Amino acid sequence: MLDAQTFNVFKDLIYAKSGINLKEGKESLLEARIGKRMREIGLSSPKDYFEFLRNDHDGAEMISFLDAISTNVTHFFREPQHFQIFEQVLKRWAANGQSKFRIWSAASSTGEEPYSIAMTVANTLNLANYDIKILGTDISTRVLAKAKLGVYENKQLADIPRHYQLAYTHSTRDHGQFEIDQKVRALVSYARINLSAPPFPMSGPFDFVFCRNVMIYFDSIVRNKLVADIHRLLKPGGVLFIGHSETLTECPVRYTTIKPSVYRKEGDDVGP
Ligand SMILES: C[S@@+](CC[C@H](N)C(=O)[O-])C[C@H]1O[C@@H](n2cnc3c(N)ncnc32)[C@H](O)[C@@H]1O
Repeated sequence: MLDAQTFNVFKDLIYAKSGINLKEGKESLLEARIGKRMREIGLSSPKDYFEFLRNDHDGAEMISFLDAISTNVTHFFREPQHFQIFEQVLKRWAANGQSKFRIWSAASSTGEEPYSIAMTVANTLNLANYDIKILGTDISTRVLAKAKLGVYENKQLADIPRHYQLAYTHSTRDHGQFEIDQKVRALVSYARINLSAPPFPMSGPFDFVFCRNVMIYFDSIVRNKLVADIHRLLKPGGVLFIGHSETLTECPVRYTTIKPSVYRKEGDDVGP
C-alpha cells in the first residue's frame, strides 16, 4: 500500500488540480487508480510517477492522471424527481412565452445526465419552436469522449422510461449497444471545465444548472466558490439541482430552497 508521505503528496496535488479532497484511508483506492496509468507508461513506483507528473510540462499527463482518479458513476434519469421538477418548470416558462433555454450539466460524466435532460426537453417542447442548448462539462477528457459518442450498453436501457426509449434511442449494429437519437444529441455540446477553478468562461445566463454528485468530493472552500459562480451564471429565478446527498449550507450567496436538493436563484423573474 502507498506510504503516508506518498499518499499525502498525491492528495495535495489532486486537491490543487481538481479540488477533490481525498480523505485519509483512501490509500488503496488511489494506488489502484494510478496503478493502471503507471503500467501504461511503464513505471512501477508511485514516487517515480509523482516525479513524472511534476515534469509534465505540456499538462498531458495531468489530464490522464485526473481521468484516472475521478469517480464517474452515473446513470440515466438518476434522482428521477429532479426530471419531474425540471419538466414542470420548463413547461411553465414555455407557457409564459419563453422560447430560449440554456442548461448546464456541470459534471456530466459519460453523458447520461445531459442526455436525460435533452430527452426530457424533447418530450416536453416542440423543438422546432425553441432555441435550446445544453452544455455538458467535466474535468475528465475520457468521460467527455464517451459522452460525445452517445453510445451505451443495452443494460442501461432499463434506466430510461419506456416511451423515451422508443422515441430517443436506436440499437446500433454492434450487438448489445444503443445510441442516442440525433435530434437529442444535437441539443448537447461538451467542454472540459474544472469546477474547482471559477470564474467559469461561459457567459450565461443559464435557466437551469445540474451540479449533482460532484460537490461531495470537494471541501467547503471549493464548494462555496463553485456555488457562488453558478449563482452568478444563473438567471434570476434560475434553478439549481444538486445531488440528494449534497447540501448548500454555509452557502455564501442567496438561493431559495424549492425542495431538498433543488434551489432557485432569487430575483425578479417568475420562479418555479
Ligand atoms: C459521480 S459523477 C456524477 C455525474 C452526474 N452529475 C450524476 O449525478 O450522475 C462525478 C463527475 O464529476 C467529475 N469531476 C470531479 N471533479 C471535477 C472537477 N473539479 N471539475 C469538473 N468535474 C469534476 C468527475 O470526472 C465525474 O465525471
